[in-house]
Amino acid sequence: MHQVAVWDMFVRIFHWSLVLLFFSAFFLFDDEGAAHRYAGYAVLGLVGARIVWGFIGTRHARFFSFPPNLSAALQHLKAIRSGEKEKVTLSHNPLGALMIYNLLASLILVCLSGIMMTLDQFWGVAWVEEVHELAANYTLFCVALHVLGVIIESRRSKTNLVLAMITGKKGVPDEE
Ligand code: HEM
Ligand code: HEM
Repeated sequence: MHQVAVWDMFVRIFHWSLVLLFFSAFFLFDDEGAAHRYAGYAVLGLVGARIVWGFIGTRHARFFSFPPNLSAALQHLKAIRSGEKEKVTLSHNPLGALMIYNLLASLILVCLSGIMMTLDQFWGVAWVEEVHELAANYTLFCVALHVLGVIIESRRSKTNLVLAMITGKKGVPDEE
């Protein structure tokens, strides 16, 4: 087993700040709603910065290292279901990659609909509130799937992916 540096400092700080801020936004509701809004703005800022990093960041963090590819993702799902052993993917595997694009897009929808709720034009408009609430709950559901995926893939590839998101390094068997 040897260690390969995969996640740079930006990706790791981005990820764990996103976790903290997402759950803060989801569960923090003070009287004025200010804490909720600030956590939400910070989430949007993080997601924006991550998108820029996807073009200019380090190798495994760039979008071209994990392009959205539906057929590769379905193939990957099949491999999971058939109990096939998996090699370590240095960036995100195709199924994980789709989930990441899905999470980033849903977070943008949650934050933009939240911001709309604070604007005069949309204040009190029911459909905007519904979109915000639905998108937030959908994102929470996807986060649960995301964490389940991380657990399953850590077992299958015999690499602790959560630890890799902390240390930045993935353990790769010597023959790979
Ligand atoms: C405690 C719960 C969580 C754990 C244990 C966790 C774990 C991980 C791990 C291990 C990866 C890397 C997967 C890989 O190696 O391919 C990852 C990536 C990612 N996770 Fe999570 N995650 C959690 C919660 C969240 C939440 C709440 C969000 C967003 C709402 C999120 C969004 C993402 C994104 C966007 C990436 C891609 C990282 C990047 O390329 O910059 N995660 N997560
Ligand atoms: C990841 C970010 C966010 C999440 C997870 C989130 C989630 C939620 C949830 C679950 C609710 C409660 C819906 C209900 O049951 O009525 C809510 C309400 C609300 N959100 Fe967000 N939100 C986020 C970002 C934002 C942003 C950026 C803004 C605006 C700047 C915002 C403004 C609001 C407002 C004004 C309400 C209604 C507050 C109230 O009923 O007291 N949210 N949000």
